[in-house]
Amino acid sequence: MGGASRRSALGKLPPWQAGGVWELVTGGMSGARVSRRDGVYRKESDDPGIDLAGEGERLTWLREHGIPAAEVLECRPGLLVTAEVPGRSAASPWPAESRPLIIDALADLARALHALPVDDCPFDRTLAVTVPAALESDVDLDDLDDERLGWSREDLVAELLATRPPDEDLVVCHGDLCLPNVVFDPTTHRVSGVLDAGLLGVADRWADLAIATRSVAGELNPQYRPEHADRFLARYGIAPDPVKTTFYRLLEEFS
Ligand SMILES: Nc1ncnc2c1ncn2[C@@H]1O[C@H](COP(=O)(O)OP(=O)(O)OP(=O)(O)O)[C@@H](O)[C@H]1O
Ligand SMILES: [Mg+2]
Repeated sequence: MGGASRRSALGKLPPWQAGGVWELVTGGMSGARVSRRDGVYRKESDDPGIDLAGEGERLTWLREHGIPAAEVLECRPGLLVTAEVPGRSAASPWPAESRPLIIDALADLARALHALPVDDCPFDRTLAVTVPAALESDVDLDDLDDERLGWSREDLVAELLATRPPDEDLVVCHGDLCLPNVVFDPTTHRVSGVLDAGLLGVADRWADLAIATRSVAGELNPQYRPEHADRFLARYGIAPDPVKTTFYRLLEEFS
């Protein structure tokens, strides 16, 4: 939905627009500020490079296509308000016996997303779009993946252009399918909702698989082991593709 504000038939403001104290959740690696209050999350940014209206459109598109995603309550340039998705993200601490179940549910979510009809998806994240965008974007050289530490921007660009895959296995990708962006029901271990869908669009399936396996196997979340990333790919039903994995992780350095 759009519109700067939404009043009920009685002219009453919805609760998140009335006065009250917001609790800051994160300043946001992506640059957006996220805060919460009364079952509602608010994401704000005045950076024109962060398309929160577009993120709202994508969350709504996902829900319309049967994927559980945060419900959009208000959405306009610079502001996205969503209803709280109940549960805990995959990045929260989970008991050891729950972790394989979370990994399986994450893989099943990826499969379901990637089974959506590409022709219905109006959002383009193919390399024809993302590589030129990468060439225009800034890179935080202090926040590179370990295997690229010490690289210059020129090194990154040269490698990106030299390793661009000749083919794309196109599906609907989430675009940032990492552990903090998927919330699960702690009892059933089923996905209760997908968040942070601003980069959703048609792309090679490895755009998601490379980010998901890095998030699972990486050092940021040591409750998961590299074996969990193997399990994720086995459950998804695909053999590892080291070439595309490396390329899509490199491409992500530019976002
Ligand atoms: N609707 C929601 N329901 C439940 N949790 C939410 C919701 N929206 C945001 N969050 C929480 O806030 C966190 C940050 O939100 P989001 O992922 O949209 O922003 P972000 O730009 O990725 O922030 P960061 O860069 O810090 O990850 C999420 O990982 C999640 O924990
Ligand atoms: Mg996020």
